[in-house]
Amino acid sequence: MANESEEKHKTQEDLSRRQFFVRVGLGSLAVAGAGTAVFAYQFLSPNVLYEPSPVVNAGKPASYPPESVTLDPATGIFVVRETQGFYALGATCTHLGCLTAWKPELGIIACPCHGSKFRTDGTKIEGPAPKPLPWLRMWLSDEGDLMVDRSQLVAVRQFVRI
Ligand code: FES
Repeated sequence: MANESEEKHKTQEDLSRRQFFVRVGLGSLAVAGAGTAVFAYQFLSPNVLYEPSPVVNAGKPASYPPESVTLDPATGIFVVRETQGFYALGATCTHLGCLTAWKPELGIIACPCHGSKFRTDGTKIEGPAPKPLPWLRMWLSDEGDLMVDRSQLVAVRQFVRI
């Protein structure tokens, strides 16, 4: 009788040990499966860089005083208003890509990095910049806003007349 009870106790112990290992095994499989799912999702999701649109709304023409050069540092463009009309210049220096600045006291655009200087039409006056500042495509939207496409260059002296 004691032997029978001892055997029954041993069988229950074996069963609980077996259940323990089954649970550990299932838990490991679940962790491995979750890790695989995460890596598979990352692998399958598109690796795309979401860059801002090259088209910028530069606002109403009336917000620019006559004969003015206005830098928008956020978009890297100059909006220039002359008697002939408006145009947009890329404000990124053609030397090593620093953001240039308008110097009203000198009437020039200057690069703070290595001293390149440009006229308001983008042509280089002096310094290491290899090219002039580019003219960017500008147009008037149906709502009457000045629009600039930073990805499209245009020939010099293509004014937007208003
Ligand atoms: S980056 Fe403008 S002069 Fe060098």
